[in-house]
Amino acid sequence: MRNIITLQPSLFEDYKFMDIQFPKPQYLGAKYIHSDWIAKHIPENSNVILDAFSGSQSIGFLCKKLGKTVISNDFLLFNSEIGKALIENKNTILTYDDINILFSPNSDTNKYNLMEYLFSDLFFIREETRFLDAFRSNVDFLEDDYKKALAFSVINRAMTRKVTMGHFAHTQALVYASNPERIKRNRSLRRPIKDIFLELFVEYNNAVFDNGTDCVAYNENIFDLLPSLSDVDVAYFDPPYCNSHADYQGFYHLLETYTNYWKDKEFINGTKRYSPKKESGFDTKKDIINSFKRLFKLSEKIPYWLISYNDRSYPSIETLIELISPYRKVSVERKIYQAGRGGKGSVAGSSEILIICKP
Ligand SMILES: C[S@@+](CC[C@H](N)C(=O)[O-])C[C@H]1O[C@@H](n2cnc3c(N)ncnc32)[C@H](O)[C@@H]1O
Repeated sequence: MRNIITLQPSLFEDYKFMDIQFPKPQYLGAKYIHSDWIAKHIPENSNVILDAFSGSQSIGFLCKKLGKTVISNDFLLFNSEIGKALIENKNTILTYDDINILFSPNSDTNKYNLMEYLFSDLFFIREETRFLDAFRSNVDFLEDDYKKALAFSVINRAMTRKVTMGHFAHTQALVYASNPERIKRNRSLRRPIKDIFLELFVEYNNAVFDNGTDCVAYNENIFDLLPSLSDVDVAYFDPPYCNSHADYQGFYHLLETYTNYWKDKEFINGTKRYSPKKESGFDTKKDIINSFKRLFKLSEKIPYWLISYNDRSYPSIETLIELISPYRKVSVERKIYQAGRGGKGSVAGSSEILIICKP
């Protein structure tokens, strides 16, 4: 009887945030679609969870809903701004007054003209790049870092909605945007970014909540962050899958350029990607084995690891297990893709893998 009495509140605790909706991401390799499956493997008795390669933040958000203290991290700034807005942030939302500030005219056209200069007639028409520059010039007039993070999260998501395939590694955006068949499939191709923003910001506001713990979002290379962390119970590792779409900076360079608003980079190739790129360690065959070795060594003190993987990536699962086995007992869970979803080797017939590493 005593057991039943103590279990009930904890069940209630587990489910009280479950109705909160994560704004649907469009990010290569996002694990949003695998959330329920991954949730089953998060130990119930864990408190602090590191989402080490957090991307769209879908798994950090899942853990926040489960009531965990989440440490989220991604080395790309536009991703960590989503972490700040939806993981770290407890109660700050964007109001219509904030939106009036963001939609005001450009506060300094000499300083804020990067989007017009780089991406007009490439990804967006000039009117839209001017709007983006004006919006960017006004972000700093918001009084609060969480509001700024929400503004970045929503405007960046609006940009991926507006572009066919949701990424910036091709130069056909405007060609597709005038193709009636494509417009039929995705009406956002024709909508002003401003309208898309107005539709999306409500979803983002609704996803802001306090789970009663102090979650935090970092923007670090994981190799720099791990040595500074202590008392983490579970590490969730979802690094780029080397061999299939590992080049996140190639796909999302425009969002990273917009958020950083770099003036001191070179912008190269047809897509005007910034150069040099940040060093990931997980996107090329020559680095990846050493990077995994370093990652596991630096995570020695974290008792439980969950690693998302794919059976078409390099190195093979067997090699990866060999690298883990000096540290942890390993078991492998597998989910077979019925249909390809794009990105990270999610080809029909391939499997999404979860490597479970226990002390
Ligand atoms: C497969 S994605 C993560 C997807 C994420 N789990 C989700 O649900 O959206 C891998 C992420 O790792 C990040 N990344 C790559 N190298 C990194 C590094 N050395 N340190 C931190 N983040 C890195 C990339 O920016 C990318 O967002």
